[in-house]
Amino acid sequence: ADVAHGAQIFSANCAACHMGGGNVVNAERTLKADALSAYLADYNADHEAAIAHQVTNGKNAMPAFLGKLNDTDIADVAAYVEDMASKGWA
Ligand code: HEM
Repeated sequence: ADVAHGAQIFSANCAACHMGGGNVVNAERTLKADALSAYLADYNADHEAAIAHQVTNGKNAMPAFLGKLNDTDIADVAAYVEDMASKGWA
């Protein structure tokens, strides 16, 4: 996956709610590694697949990106989120 392209996808589609790996809608549900591990379904089995699944389908107040982003875009943004989570979004 192309992490640099994922960063562009994130800026355009995710940062409004997830600036800096946070969550302005539901403050506990951040994109930090501890929150992903605690709240994101199947994250511990396959990190990028779990992120891609939530982006594709959405959850509660988070919109689905199916039909808005293609599979490559979703894989790239998942790789970016995982890369940033592994670095603590620093
Ligand atoms: C949760 C990624 C766009 C609102 C999450 C989670 C991920 C994620 C991985 C799980 C975090 C956790 O459970 O701790 C993304 C990506 C986006 C995106 C990569 C862009 C492609 C958005 C947008 C909004 C949003 C635009 C606001 C309109 C939320 C909310 C949750 C969430 C409210 C919590 C859902 C719940 O468990 O009830 N997001 N997100 N997200 N996101 Fe997003």
